[in-house]
Amino acid sequence: MCGIVGYVGVRDAVPIILDGLQRLEYRGYDSVGVALYADNVIQVRRQAGKLANLRQCVEAEPVSGTIGIGHTRWATHGAPVERNAHPHLSMNGEFVVVHNGIVENYLELREELSAEGVIFKSDTDTEVIVQLIEEFASNGAHGDVAEATRLAVQQLRGAHAIVVMSRRQPDRLVAVRIGNAGGIAVGTGEHEHFIASDIPAILDYTHHMLFLESRQMAIVKRDSYEIQTLGGQSVHALPQSIPYDPISAVKGEFKHFMQKEIFDQARSITDTIGGRVDFENSQVVLPSLNLTAERAQQIERVVTVACGTSYYSGLIGKFFIEQLARLNVEVDYGSEYRYRDPILDETTAVLAITQSGETVDTLAAMEEARDKGALVWSIVNAVGSQAMRIADGYISMNAGPEIGVASTKAFTTSVVDQYLLALYLGQLRGKLAPDAIRIHAQALARLPDLVGRTLELEGAIRELAHQVYSYTNFLYLGRGINYPIALEGALKLKEISYIHAEGYPAGEMKHGPIALIDEQMPVVAIALKDKVYDKMLSQIEQAKARDAIVIALATEGDTVIQTKADHVLYLPETSPLLAPVLSVVALQLLAYDVAVRRGADVDQPRNLAKSVTVE
Ligand code: M6R
Repeated sequence: MCGIVGYVGVRDAVPIILDGLQRLEYRGYDSVGVALYADNVIQVRRQAGKLANLRQCVEAEPVSGTIGIGHTRWATHGAPVERNAHPHLSMNGEFVVVHNGIVENYLELREELSAEGVIFKSDTDTEVIVQLIEEFASNGAHGDVAEATRLAVQQLRGAHAIVVMSRRQPDRLVAVRIGNAGGIAVGTGEHEHFIASDIPAILDYTHHMLFLESRQMAIVKRDSYEIQTLGGQSVHALPQSIPYDPISAVKGEFKHFMQKEIFDQARSITDTIGGRVDFENSQVVLPSLNLTAERAQQIERVVTVACGTSYYSGLIGKFFIEQLARLNVEVDYGSEYRYRDPILDETTAVLAITQSGETVDTLAAMEEARDKGALVWSIVNAVGSQAMRIADGYISMNAGPEIGVASTKAFTTSVVDQYLLALYLGQLRGKLAPDAIRIHAQALARLPDLVGRTLELEGAIRELAHQVYSYTNFLYLGRGINYPIALEGALKLKEISYIHAEGYPAGEMKHGPIALIDEQMPVVAIALKDKVYDKMLSQIEQAKARDAIVIALATEGDTVIQTKADHVLYLPETSPLLAPVLSVVALQLLAYDVAVRRGADVDQPRNLAKSVTVE
């Protein structure tokens, strides 16, 4: 959940670390800090709140050096105040640590260390790590920071990404990854190296990076790096080239990243489709899935695991895979799946959907699937992430970096990826003839243009947002493939505007939720011209009969709906399977405009983080 940046080289580390943290602030933003080695001491500057506070602090109390580490925090243990902000110094100021993860046995370790006379200055679990390192440096590790870190991390339970700097060996940073608490990328440059929990933090400086696997350690110096296992064996690892364009992580003409990312979707969907459909031969090509026709035919069901928005995307993918590949699909929350002792074998394909590729619950579900012999696939946006690496095959979203904490373009590109997957499975399993694939592929090819046309609703939606932004409850209704869009529309609204919103399958209204409806309840109804259209119309009538304010998403040309709903947003016509992509774009805009109107911090909503690397 937290962001980590480290630098060792010939330049001043402070601007590099602060700029890197700025790019990671979406991961956690309740407190922030930096530590530099200079003049034979480790100097730390920390602040509660956002990076701007740290920038002011560094201006008031300057610090510089050619080696340092920084951290932006999402609090797990201890309030978001200065003393709990990372980096944390050891008692004697010999070592300093930044950390992502949870030390599950920290109370036990803290008691033991306190009994030995260690004085703690924070309420965090992280501080035990640095105190242990200092302890092992004097007992067994002979002052060597890598060895002391290796010994210390063996005492920890849980998953961790840790970077350590030492006053005794100020030429190196030591980074460790254990489990799935977030990644560690080591970026290479000329006479300089970088460390980051996430690629965008260091993309301005290098596109050459390698990634630590679980239970690996990197010893990173100005002119060299070494990767070892925690057992001390050397690992041969070469940097890969990362293609992201850092320009795409800049807001440009937009007021917020979320706004930019909503408007980016015609482009990102084009990139997702690009190279994966052979229109001439009516074929889908997904080489990164590593799937043969023979293996595809052995699959008897698909289990999709994901969290949050990615889970809702999986609910839409279920319709695609069931309809186009004729395979049963179950969709489950990553956070619930592994606790059910699920029934899995090699005839099941487990599909993990995760934009960050680092969501700990989803990764745990993937591991459970792998241990039980299932085929494991992932749909991932973050290149090089854990979910991409541990899968038997993957499909990348190609959405480009998504900075806004509320997921938008990662949602639509993951939906498109599942559509491609369904076509591919249908093709390999002999369930879809080339003619059928051609029709579906043509519908897909038109999608970016239709997303562009949906975005033209911007002005109308802003106007609508001005009329409804002060309500405190919203109900979102959909049926069939648009029910997950009701859930996603409600999630978008609640996470960025803090308005209570619920998504419901419209047919369930009369079984309870209709009791909530009165003139204070806007009801957003997705009522497109599909096979449940008439049923949606009758739900709208029922809501209107109870004085709700009805906002309908409708298909262009539908004049009937104007007589039923208070506000109508018209979407271009597309195939029923792809309609959710257009509906969600309109609901993203509505949530965005309502949140802006309420003055909310759209890109960094309270209590949230972009990568959820703790349970
Ligand atoms: O990185 P992931 O796709 O695995 O993230 C899953 C959820 O944490 C994420 O979708 C979350 O719900 C977002 N805040 C939604 O906007």
